[in-house]
Amino acid sequence: MNHKLRIEGGTKLKGSIEAQGAKNAALPIMAASLLLKGKKLNLQRVPYLKDVSTMVELLRELGVTIDFEEHHLSLDVPEDLCWETPANLVRKMRASSLVLGPLIARCGKAVLPLPGGCSIGSRPIDLHLKGLARMGANIELVHGAVHAHANGLRGCRIYLDFPSVGATENLLMAAAFAQGETVIENAAREPEIGNLIQTLKGMGAQIEEKSTGEILIEGVPELEASSAEIIPDRIEAATYLLAGVITRGEVTVKRIHPSHVDALIAKLEEAGITLTVDNDSVTVHPVRELKAVSLKTMPFPGFPTDLQPQIMSTLALANGTSIIQESVFESRFRHVSELNKMGASVEVQGHTAIIKGVRELIGADVQATDLRAGASLILAGLAAFDETNVFNLGHVWRGYEDLHIKLAELGGRVEILPVEDVESKGNGMNMKGVS
Ligand code: EPZ
Repeated sequence: MNHKLRIEGGTKLKGSIEAQGAKNAALPIMAASLLLKGKKLNLQRVPYLKDVSTMVELLRELGVTIDFEEHHLSLDVPEDLCWETPANLVRKMRASSLVLGPLIARCGKAVLPLPGGCSIGSRPIDLHLKGLARMGANIELVHGAVHAHANGLRGCRIYLDFPSVGATENLLMAAAFAQGETVIENAAREPEIGNLIQTLKGMGAQIEEKSTGEILIEGVPELEASSAEIIPDRIEAATYLLAGVITRGEVTVKRIHPSHVDALIAKLEEAGITLTVDNDSVTVHPVRELKAVSLKTMPFPGFPTDLQPQIMSTLALANGTSIIQESVFESRFRHVSELNKMGASVEVQGHTAIIKGVRELIGADVQATDLRAGASLILAGLAAFDETNVFNLGHVWRGYEDLHIKLAELGGRVEILPVEDVESKGNGMNMKGVS
């Protein structure tokens, strides 16, 4: 069954909500549990999300016994694991590839169907495979699946051509038992990597983060049972702050690490927004006019690509012309055509979007094409006059826990509705019937 979010726009959001645990920390940390043998990993603040459920399903298929309630996840990992990952789950969620490193390290082999690309780009895993091969894994592609095996991995120096988050995570986990020292150069530095490193160290891994961005891992014979807490979700938190900005309201997001949203805070201050930053919360205050600003998405600590669609919606109502360069993914502008249906004036030239601020957005029927594109359309709907229907809500449920509840707590007039098949194609028309 498909669902849509119906939004009555035009209300200034007001109030405060708490951030969920970070999706992009929970997923790799759940995969890291596979490094245990006959031991448990207990995780707190795990968000209720579709992607987390998919990872639970995948780990259960591999043999892990899992209990999940009240945001507490208990993973009981047996002595023997299955090392073949089911294609249907890998195709459903690209982050399934994060089991590759732990399975090779722990079982000496793994079969992983190649994760497909998605609507934001081809998203290969060549950097993951190149690093694993350097550590001594034998990697073969057979019928679109990675067949890997290794008689023990050996520590070595690995340079990542791009600071890939997933490649850094997979290689970190693969190196946990490798013979000797592994050095990952040009590693990703997102806060979610830090959460994974802290969790692995809590399990007994020997890991050191150098200020130069290198990560050093000294292999150990085995890891121990442990527990860890998932860090706050900086992208979810930032999305709600932008909901406050775009509706000219006043929104506080609590239980976050403000330093994780520094890039957004700086950009919003440049746009004329007043913010209050406390030690575990951030508040955006109403402003009459938003100034146009420009930005380029970069790996952390740069402006996050996962916030690019959401800030684009916000800048659609700024005073002036903004420029956004998307440098991380090759095709992360699919939300633009849907935003323009709502009266935005965005032009895409290659990896650059030119956003001419307009005075108002108009409600329309729009399609979410991926998780963050869906979030950007919801923000636009909250600010638009009239009614907006955001279809394919399943994309958004991958990353936003209790979305409609949190928006309603802030005064948003939203409703989740089931969608009949014929309607779910989306007639692409705005409320005035103009396509
Ligand atoms: C993680 O994806 C996040 N997902 C993404 O969040 C996020 O957008 C991305 O990092 C960048 O921050 C999770 O953590 C589960 P990458 P990942 O490897 O690891 C290219 C969301 O909305 N690349 O850093 O897949 C790749 O094609 C999601 O929550 C290679 O070329 O991202 C992309 O252009 C979307 N070869 C760039 O690097 C490789 O082997 C960044 O990818 C790996 C990556």
